[in-house]
Amino acid sequence: MNVLGIETSCDETSIALVKNGKKILSNIVASQEIIHQKFGGVVPELASRAHTEIIESLFLEALRKSGVTIKEINLIAVTGSPGLKGSLLIGKVFARSLTFAYQIPLIEVNHLHAHLAANFLSGEEINFPAIGLVVSGGHTNLFYLKNRTKIKPLGETLDDAAGEVFDKVARILNLGYPGGPALEKAAEKGNPDAIKFPCAYMGKESLDFSFSGVKTSVIYYVKKYGLNNIPDIAAGFQKAIIKVLVEKVKRAIKFKKVKTVLLGGGVVSNKVLRREMKKIALAEGTYLFVPLSVLCTDNAAMVASLGYYLCQEESP
Ligand code: KG4
Ligand code: ZN
Repeated sequence: MNVLGIETSCDETSIALVKNGKKILSNIVASQEIIHQKFGGVVPELASRAHTEIIESLFLEALRKSGVTIKEINLIAVTGSPGLKGSLLIGKVFARSLTFAYQIPLIEVNHLHAHLAANFLSGEEINFPAIGLVVSGGHTNLFYLKNRTKIKPLGETLDDAAGEVFDKVARILNLGYPGGPALEKAAEKGNPDAIKFPCAYMGKESLDFSFSGVKTSVIYYVKKYGLNNIPDIAAGFQKAIIKVLVEKVKRAIKFKKVKTVLLGGGVVSNKVLRREMKKIALAEGTYLFVPLSVLCTDNAAMVASLGYYLCQEESP
């Protein structure tokens, strides 16, 4: 079954063709980084305009690379929510036009669930139930997965998303946009124990997150001591964020008694986060799935994969 995936929820336009939920035939991603860079964040109006301008040519390129013709597409999967309203609309309208013109069935998928579905593309067997952690620029969410498609929320951020604070703190430290990779690089030269930033655990049982406090304490630190010590600030901040993410995954493993953890979202590209998650998974006797870096950030292959499994479930 050939599934066309369409992703336009934020600032990446992506079109992919995936066979049977696992095999990527093509996965084209056009980033709008350059457009939003000078504003230090995503400008919704510019994002939807850029999606409109590029989506058709990306579709044709994805088709050409995959070797699949329009008539050979069996299903279209498009990101339905959450995301920027105007940006989502571009993907949905494009998907519906194809459905209307070529009578191809259409399914809308949840963007956060799709981030976890990036792990289905490894082709490895996954033992469910599992815990899923999505950490991106817009979201920090913990999920319980009964199987690939039965997904229930366990916790979420009550204020900023993890990626969002990486971006904001990177801006405070003059490291540029997008901040996550720049901050990770700066932290490599710093001592993570030189400056202690606070970790918000929200009580012993909580699976929710709060990251605005650590951001505020970085602001206060910089006001007091200036920017002479950027690597140590970056390393201390990164450690505080990762400590909380790891602790919440550990709690979720224990509370839900699972043997599998799935990670997803742009922040999972962070090497320290990957290393610490591996350590905790090993200590808890669980199997950890981490997507390839290119499948951590927004892409349409993960959307197509989830669409395939949702469609299998609906079929008699
Ligand atoms: O999943 P994604 O592409 O977009 C959303 O759906 O939000 O994630 C982008 C986020 C940005 O906030 C970016 O700074 C962060 O992921 N990010 C990182 C790293 N690479 C990307 N954060 C920390 N360390 C990284 N290496
Ligand atoms: Zn995303």
